[in-house]
Amino acid sequence: MRRFLIAGNWKMHNGPAATRSLLTELNEEVPDIPDSLDALVCPPFVSLEAASEKVRKHFGLFLGAQNLHFEDEGAYTGEVTADMLKEVGCEYVIVGHSERREYFGETDKTVNLKVKKAVSEGIKPIFCVGESLKQRKAGEHVNLVKKQVQVALNEVEASDAEDVVVAYEPLWAIGTGETATPEQAQEMHDMIRGELAELYDEDTSDAIRILYGGSMKPHNAEDLLGQPDVDGGLIGGASLKAESFADIIRIAEELS
Ligand code: 13P
Repeated sequence: MRRFLIAGNWKMHNGPAATRSLLTELNEEVPDIPDSLDALVCPPFVSLEAASEKVRKHFGLFLGAQNLHFEDEGAYTGEVTADMLKEVGCEYVIVGHSERREYFGETDKTVNLKVKKAVSEGIKPIFCVGESLKQRKAGEHVNLVKKQVQVALNEVEASDAEDVVVAYEPLWAIGTGETATPEQAQEMHDMIRGELAELYDEDTSDAIRILYGGSMKPHNAEDLLGQPDVDGGLIGGASLKAESFADIIRIAEELS
């Protein structure tokens, strides 16, 4: 069985001071992250250093960023490099979140460039895929997500692909309180697993973690994480409160 990855995507919440407070509270809730799983927080860039100090003291909690640029340096105002992320202790980075695709012009192509840069620098990318409600209603979701996976992993070798994490985040479930049913999530995760086996092989596909994202909360986490191909969660709202994030970590521990 794959190790669960319980990842908090804080989005545009929590400056350095709020980051220290939230991680202190989380530390009180979960003094030791269970050995059986991985837990991760992804604060905004300006809070990474504050988080890094806390995370180092909080055994077992990993640190991730919400974006990176695919170049090593240059005139790219507002962007950060993989090296900069490593310097502040990031081991993961979210790539191609739907909010980045919708508001900041990310495309499957830039997602691919970023996934390649992250793996080449030894940072684990969590790349996001998912369909809108309109696309699901039109029956386009399977082919769309399949293509997102194919393009994101273009020219990524099998040996690197094992460090990649896929996050299936149906757009209609993000921040809406509406969740994919466990069956809908499993159906898409199973399809993604199959596509990974096509692109690589069964062993590689089995090693890659596929997270579910979209209104995962303590009350639905058990059913979602109980699906055979759901290997964790990419959690927005519920990761902003120590108690609910800790509850989800505890639920994953029970299932591990
Ligand atoms: P919510 O959990 O708030 O729906 O956010 C999901 C998400 O976008 C995580 O990346």
